[in-house]
Amino acid sequence: MKKLLYQFDTDALPSLFDNVVGYDGGADHISAYGGIDARNVGGLVEGAIFTRGIKDKKSTAIFIGGGNMAEGEAVLAAVRKKFFEKFRVSVMFDCNGCNTTACAAVARLAHGRSLAGKRAVVLGGSGPVGQRAAVLLAREGAEVAITGRKLDVVQAACDSIHARFGIVVRAVEAPTNAERGAAVEGAQIVLATGAAGITLLQEKQWQDSATLELVADANASPPAGIEGVGLNDRDLPKHGKILFGSLGFGALKLALHRACISRLFEQNDLLLDAEEIYAIAKTMVD
Ligand SMILES: NC(=O)c1ccc[n+]([C@@H]2O[C@H](COP(=O)([O-])OP(=O)(O)OC[C@H]3O[C@@H](n4cnc5c(N)ncnc54)[C@H](OP(=O)(O)O)[C@@H]3O)[C@@H](O)[C@H]2O)c1
Repeated sequence: MKKLLYQFDTDALPSLFDNVVGYDGGADHISAYGGIDARNVGGLVEGAIFTRGIKDKKSTAIFIGGGNMAEGEAVLAAVRKKFFEKFRVSVMFDCNGCNTTACAAVARLAHGRSLAGKRAVVLGGSGPVGQRAAVLLAREGAEVAITGRKLDVVQAACDSIHARFGIVVRAVEAPTNAERGAAVEGAQIVLATGAAGITLLQEKQWQDSATLELVADANASPPAGIEGVGLNDRDLPKHGKILFGSLGFGALKLALHRACISRLFEQNDLLLDAEEIYAIAKTMVD
C-alpha cells in the first residue's frame, strides 16, 4: 500500500521545503495543494478518509503548512471536524515549520539545563516559529515576552497563544534595534525568530549584558537575526553567554520533521502539533 501524503498549504504556492522533507520522511507520493482554507478543505479530507479500508488508512496522511498560523489552525479545525469514528487519518501541523523549528530550538536550549524561572524574550515573535517557541519556553518554566513592530500585532499573537494553550505571554512593541535592546535587559534568554535576513539585535547590544545566558537565532538567511551569532553555533561560548545559530539546531529540526512524517504512517489517528512534536524532539536531542 503506497504511503500517500496530502500537503495542505494556506499559501498560494505550497512549500517546496515541506514537500522535500515529506519524501525524505518516507512518503511514497505527495499531493501538494496551495490556497487551502477552512472552507475548501472539506472535500479533500473526505477523499482521504473514505478511500481505504480501516487497516490501510494509516497509509494516508495529511500535512498542514503555510505562513499564516491563524489560517492554518482554522484548516486543522476543519480537517478534524470531518473525522468521525474510524474515518480519520493522521495529521501533522507545521505552518512555516513552526513546530519542528521551535521544538528543535527550545529542546536544544533546554538540553542539560533548566529554563525554569528564567526571563526569555522572543524577538520578532509574532510569526509562526516565534509563537510556538514562546509557548515551549513557557512550558519549560520561563517567563516569556515576545516583541514585534506593532503592539496590536504582537498582542494578537499573545491572545492566540492564550486561546490555544492557556499560557500568558507578554507583548512588547519594539520596532527598532534600540527598543529590542531595551526589551532584552534583565532577560537570561533571547531567541530571535524574525523574518529571514532581518537583523533584530546588534552584537554590542547583548555582548556586555550581565544577565543574558543563552542567545539563539533562528534566522538562516544572512545577515544574522542576532549579530555575532554564527549560523553553526551550537552551545558555543562567547562573551560569557552560550550561543545557538540557526543551523546549530537546524539538523535537529530536519531530523525531527522527517521523524514526524514517518510516524504519521504508523497509525491512522495521530495528531502531531506542538505538544506531541516537542515530546518527540526531547527524545532526539543529544
Ligand atoms: N533554523 C531552521 O531550521 C528554520 C526553519 C524554519 C524557519 N526558520 C527561520 O525562522 C524565522 C522565523 O520564521 P517565521 O516563519 O515565524 O517568520 P516570519 O513569519 O516570516 O516573520 C516573523 C516576524 O518577523 C517580523 N518581521 C517581518 N519583517 C520585519 C522587519 N522588516 N523588521 C523587523 N521585524 C520584521 C514580523 O513581526 P511583526 O510584524 O510583529 O514585527 C513577523 O511576524 C525566519 O527567519 C525563518 O527563516 C529557521
